[in-house]
Amino acid sequence: MKKSVRRAVIAGNWKMNNTPAQTTALINEMKPLVAGADCDVVLCVPFVDIAAAVEAAKGSNIKIGAENVHFKASGAYTGEVSADMLVACGVEYVVIGHSERRQYFGETDQTVNLRSLAALNAGLKAIICVGETLEQRELGYTETLLKYQTKMALTGVTKEQLKNVIIAYEPVWAIGTGVTATADQADEGNGFVRAAIAEAYGEEAAEAVTVQYGGSMNAKNAEELVSKVNVDGGLIGGASLKAADFSVIVKAASEG
Ligand code: 13P
Repeated sequence: MKKSVRRAVIAGNWKMNNTPAQTTALINEMKPLVAGADCDVVLCVPFVDIAAAVEAAKGSNIKIGAENVHFKASGAYTGEVSADMLVACGVEYVVIGHSERRQYFGETDQTVNLRSLAALNAGLKAIICVGETLEQRELGYTETLLKYQTKMALTGVTKEQLKNVIIAYEPVWAIGTGVTATADQADEGNGFVRAAIAEAYGEEAAEAVTVQYGGSMNAKNAEELVSKVNVDGGLIGGASLKAADFSVIVKAASEG
């Protein structure tokens, strides 16, 4: 199976941006710009914006995601949100293991795995983030690390559940820095991720998995990035906060 039969997914990760009112306004602006896209279009928004986002996106091709999920079903976990709660709110996707959560909030490969299992068991599509720091890249650990993070995240995930998994390769040094990986670096990193999936699930299953690139992807560089065989769309931070820029990226993925 080749890229031509994998559907690209362009997902915005809004991070800690936008109020519910701003959410409604931005999605209303985006809707006509991304209508008819030949790729999946997702916006992952803060928990407090989910209701507004689901309402604004109704009847459009925009799907709504969350930015994190807890691995327990319920209980004394102050500040956390369960997978079933997200499903009940109309959420279809969830970002798991973003490098900002790993860096600032103590996320580990083990908790990324637990969150991934909880999301998949609840029927959510999991966008699982992996990526190396600049230091790890310079020490030559990129392939080893990407394969390790990918396999750890997927421990216990069944072949059937793999159909609801998206992996986002996000080199930490490219996130929010304006330094994008070259298209070849993105393709290579995504290739390492796919190879790890193949080692665990076989070639055929791995060829069907959407592997995104993320890290300073924007309206200018998206076309070249998504033209690569292993780059099945992107996870977009800053550029997903601007309707015009986001829609150019969606267009690039539709044609890529
Ligand atoms: P930027 O596109 O702002 O670099 O962020 C990428 C990212 O972290 C998406 O999850």
